[in-house]
Amino acid sequence: DLPASVRIHEVGARDGLQNEKAVVPTEIKAEFIHRLAQAGLTTIEATSFVHPKWVPQLADAERLFPMLDGLQGVALPVLVPNERGLDRALALGADRIAVFASATESFAKANLNRTVDESLQMFAPVVARAKEQGGHVRGYLSMCFGDPWEGAVPVHQVVRVAKSLMDLGCDELSLGDTIGVATPAHVRSLLAALNEEGVPTSAIGVHFHDTYGQALSNTFAALQHGVRTVDASAGGLGGCPYAKSATGNLATEDLVWMLQGLGVDTGVDLGRLTATSVWLAEQLGRPSPSRTVRALSPD
Ligand code: HMG
Ligand code: MG
Repeated sequence: DLPASVRIHEVGARDGLQNEKAVVPTEIKAEFIHRLAQAGLTTIEATSFVHPKWVPQLADAERLFPMLDGLQGVALPVLVPNERGLDRALALGADRIAVFASATESFAKANLNRTVDESLQMFAPVVARAKEQGGHVRGYLSMCFGDPWEGAVPVHQVVRVAKSLMDLGCDELSLGDTIGVATPAHVRSLLAALNEEGVPTSAIGVHFHDTYGQALSNTFAALQHGVRTVDASAGGLGGCPYAKSATGNLATEDLVWMLQGLGVDTGVDLGRLTATSVWLAEQLGRPSPSRTVRALSPD
């Protein structure tokens, strides 16, 4: 049985733009996010409060975030790795944050300059303080299926870090297939293992990258398991600068096309969303990789 509705967690402005070689002007980012909201997206990850040298593409977070003030009824989560990042986010009134852990040591080192356990220690006060302020906390978990340095990642290794994130107080978990190697049976076994260890499906979102063209199949498997939160990136923008072979995220348009066909409500206007991705692709100077965007665009 499929859910009647799915909440799309739109990551294009963060996961997408962090991976662009060119730094997109702040005004274009703000317009992009406003257009995503007008297309009906209600959770739009806006930016990251990380070290500006690590991700220069998002170094304008202080200028961008206030430009989103007028967006009513839209949740605007931001990535925060540590207390320094949390201070920056709270100073601007952010009330939804995301910490980001790794299931593998190699990626924890590459992405956070920490071991897995050191990064969990770094997140502990971040989650606690955000919760004290009444905030909502998402815990990303990267490399849940495969890792470019370590190969296939054992389910029990993912479950251990996932449980640690939940124990810190995260409200939701996003399972990242950072390099896009998952297939549906692997998705099903990870979800079942998490449930067995006490992580409820209601707290789980899925975050697929489309490297091998499996992102939609994996999403469908997760929906059949009861997952109702799906991460996607408008136009299929994205990747991860610290993970070799990470290509774009599942395109939001591809996801919406499938869900419409299944009769699952998302609240998204596919025409407006596609027009937004076509517009952004023009700004970036190259076409959207999304098959649905291409199919629905003129010529
Ligand atoms: P570090 O070099 O170990 O930092 O980096 P540190 O803690 O040693 O601090 C060094 C200096 O950086 C200090 O300044 C800090 O104040 C400053 P100094 O005292 O030397 O003058 N600093 C900061 N400045 C601004 N904002 C901050 C901040 N933190 C420290 N937040 C750190 C550690 C975590 C900071 C660094 O590794 C980092 O910023 N990493 C972020 C990497 C990133 O954003 N990756 C992409 C997101 S993850 C992803 O995309 C995957 C996902 O999509 C899911 C999936 O697909 O799997 C979510
Ligand atoms: Mg990602």
